[in-house]
Amino acid sequence: MHGKLPEAVETSQQLSAWSSPFTRSLFTLVFSVPENLSQTPSHNEEKQQTMRTDNEGPSDGKWLFQRLRGFWKLQLLGIACVALASTLSLLDPLLMKWLIDSVLPNKNLPYLGLVVAGALGAYIGRVLFQNWATLCTFGVGQKLALKLRIELFVHLERMTARFYKDNAIVNLVQRLDRDVDVICEQGTDLVPALLRMVLVLVLVILTMFTLSWRLAAPLLPLLPLFLLVRYRFRGPLQRAADEVREVAGQQSNVLTEFLGAMVQIQLLRCERQIARRYMRGLANTIRAVSRRRVTEMEFSFVSMLVVTTGGMTILGYGGFLVIQGLLTVGGLVAFYSYVLRLFEPLSTAIELFARLHRIRASLRRLTALRTVEPEVKDLAGAVPLEPNPRYHLSYQNVSFSYEAGLPTIEDATLWVRSGEVVFFVGPSGSGKSTLVRLLCRLHDVANGSINLNGADIRRITLASLRGSISAVPQEPVLFAASLRDNLLLARPGATEEQLFSAAKAACLRDVIERLPRGWDEVLGPLGSRLSGGERQRVALARALLQERPILALDEATSALDAQTEARVLGNIRDYASDRILLIVSHRLASAPLADRVVVVEQGRIVEQGSHSELLRKDGRYAALWKHAKQRTTDAEREVFSTITAGQSWAAAD
Ligand SMILES: Nc1ncnc2c1ncn2[C@@H]1O[C@H](COP(=O)(O)OP(=O)(O)O)[C@@H](O)[C@H]1O
Ligand SMILES: [Mg+2]
Repeated sequence: MHGKLPEAVETSQQLSAWSSPFTRSLFTLVFSVPENLSQTPSHNEEKQQTMRTDNEGPSDGKWLFQRLRGFWKLQLLGIACVALASTLSLLDPLLMKWLIDSVLPNKNLPYLGLVVAGALGAYIGRVLFQNWATLCTFGVGQKLALKLRIELFVHLERMTARFYKDNAIVNLVQRLDRDVDVICEQGTDLVPALLRMVLVLVLVILTMFTLSWRLAAPLLPLLPLFLLVRYRFRGPLQRAADEVREVAGQQSNVLTEFLGAMVQIQLLRCERQIARRYMRGLANTIRAVSRRRVTEMEFSFVSMLVVTTGGMTILGYGGFLVIQGLLTVGGLVAFYSYVLRLFEPLSTAIELFARLHRIRASLRRLTALRTVEPEVKDLAGAVPLEPNPRYHLSYQNVSFSYEAGLPTIEDATLWVRSGEVVFFVGPSGSGKSTLVRLLCRLHDVANGSINLNGADIRRITLASLRGSISAVPQEPVLFAASLRDNLLLARPGATEEQLFSAAKAACLRDVIERLPRGWDEVLGPLGSRLSGGERQRVALARALLQERPILALDEATSALDAQTEARVLGNIRDYASDRILLIVSHRLASAPLADRVVVVEQGRIVEQGSHSELLRKDGRYAALWKHAKQRTTDAEREVFSTITAGQSWAAAD
C-alpha cells in the first residue's frame, strides 16, 4: 500500500442510552464550547509592554485564576460531588462492624438485608458521584485548555519572523500541547483531589479514634514515617521522570527532523547512518525508562513495608485487645480496612506536591511564551493608513542588520510613486529580499525610515500597512485546502469573476485545466501536490486577487520558464498600472519592463535609473546586463522584446 495513511478518527456524537438525564444535562454543561473567536477574551486583553526576565511571578497564578473564573458553577458542582463520594467511600467498614458485632450474633435477618442494601447504595452513590465529579473536572479542564490555547495561538500570530527563527516549532508545539495539558488536566483536579485527601484523612482518623483510641494511638508514629519515605524518594523519582521526558523529547525532535528530511536522506544514501542514530536515541530512551521503573519499584517496596507494618500492628495489637475484651471483632475488622485507607491520602499528598511542581513548571513555560512581546508592533498612537488613489513610498537612509555588528542594509534611499515598476537586481545575499521584508515590517529598520504616503510605516497600524501590500516570496506557502480556498483565504468573498481574472493574469488557467478536480483540487500539505512553478503561480494569483496598492514580488516568478515569466510579468504590469510594483529578480531579461532598476550590492543601493539610463551610464548594471545577455537564448530574447516593446534587447545595444 502507498499513499496517505488512513486516519483513525471516529466521532461519537451521541451519549449511550444508559446515561441518566442528570449525566446528559451535565454533559451539555461540560461540553458547550465557544466556536466563535470573538467569544474568547484574548483578542482584547491588555498586554505587558516589556519582556519579563523573571518568568515566574505572583501574576502566574492570578492569570490562570482569571481564566478559570468563568467555570465556577461546574467547579462547585464537581467539589460537592467529590465531598459526597469521599464520605460515602468510608461507610462500608462501619457497616461491616455493625454486621459482625450486632446483626450476625443476633441472627437479625431484616437488618442483614439493610446492611447489604446500605453497602450497595453507598457503593453506587460513591461511583455515581465520583463519575460526575470526574466529568465536571474534565469539563473545566477542557474548557480551560481551549481558552488558553486560543489565547496563546492568537498571541503567537502576532510574533514576527525573528521569533520563529529563534524558537524551534517543536518547542512551541509542546508548550501549546503538553504544558497546557498539564495545567488543565492536572491543575483543575488539584482542588477536588486536595479536598478528597483532607476529607478522607480527617474522617478516617476521627472514626478510628472513635472506634478505639487505644488501637489508633500506635498508628500515629507511622504517619510521619510514611511521609518521610515518600519525601526521601521524591528527588530520585522526579529526576528519573525528568530524564525520561528529556530523552523522549529529544527523541521526538530527532524523529521529526529525520522524517521531514527523508527524501534528502535517501538522495544522500545515508539511511543506515540515520537509522543507527535513531537507534542510539532509542537505546537512551530505554535506559532512562528502565531507570525510572527500578526507582519506582524500590519506592513502592519501601512504602508497602510501612503500610504493612501498620496493618500488622493492627492485627497483633488489635487481636490482643479483642482477647482482652477491650475491642469487638467487628471493630477490629473495620479498623483493619481503615488502615489501608489511612495511607492513601498521604500518598495523594505527596503526589499532589509533585503535581504542583509540574504545574508550576508548565505555567512558567507558558508565562515565558505569553509575555514575549512581538519584535514589531503598533506604536502608541499608530493610525490606519488612509486609502489614497496615489500612493508614494520612500526608503530614507535605511539601515538594518539581522545580527548586531553585521550590517545587512546600509543607507538605502529610494522613492517610488503609484504606477511605477521598480526592479531590484544584484547578487544573491545583497539584501534585496530584506528591503521587501522591511517594507512589510517583518523587521523594523535600525536607522532611517520607510514612509508610505509621507507617514513612517511604524506610525501606521500593522494591520492596515500589511493590508496595503501583497508580498509574494520565492517559496510561497500554500495550505492543505482546495485551490479555490487557498485563493479565497487572501480575499474572503471574492466573486467567481475576480477569481478567474486573477487566475488568468497569473497564467494559472492551464494548471487548473490539468488538475482532475480543477478549482476544487486539494493541494496537499503546504501545496505539495503542485510543482514549484505552479505553486508560484497560485501565490501570484492569490496576491493579484487582493488588489492591494502595493505588490512586491520577491523572486516570485523564479521557477517559471522564461516564456511564462514574461507573460505573467506583462500581465502584472498591466494590472498594476496604477499601483506600486516592486519586483526582485535575478533574471535580468525582464528588467527593461521596469520604469526603474535598482542595483543592490552588499546592502547598498549602488545604482538606480531606467534601464536605458543605466546602460548609458555603463556602470554596474551595464556589466550585469552584458553578462546576462550572453547567457540568454534567442527564444527568451524574442519573448521579452515583444513584451518590453521599444526597450528590447536589440534596442539596448
Ligand atoms: N533571518 C536572517 N537572519 C540572519 N541573516 C539573514 C537572515 N535573512 C537573510 N540574512 C542575511 O542577510 C543578507 C541579505 O539577505 P537577503 O536580503 O535575503 O538577500 P537577497 O534577497 O539579495 O539574496 C544575506 O547575507 C543573508 O545571509
Ligand atoms: Mg532574496
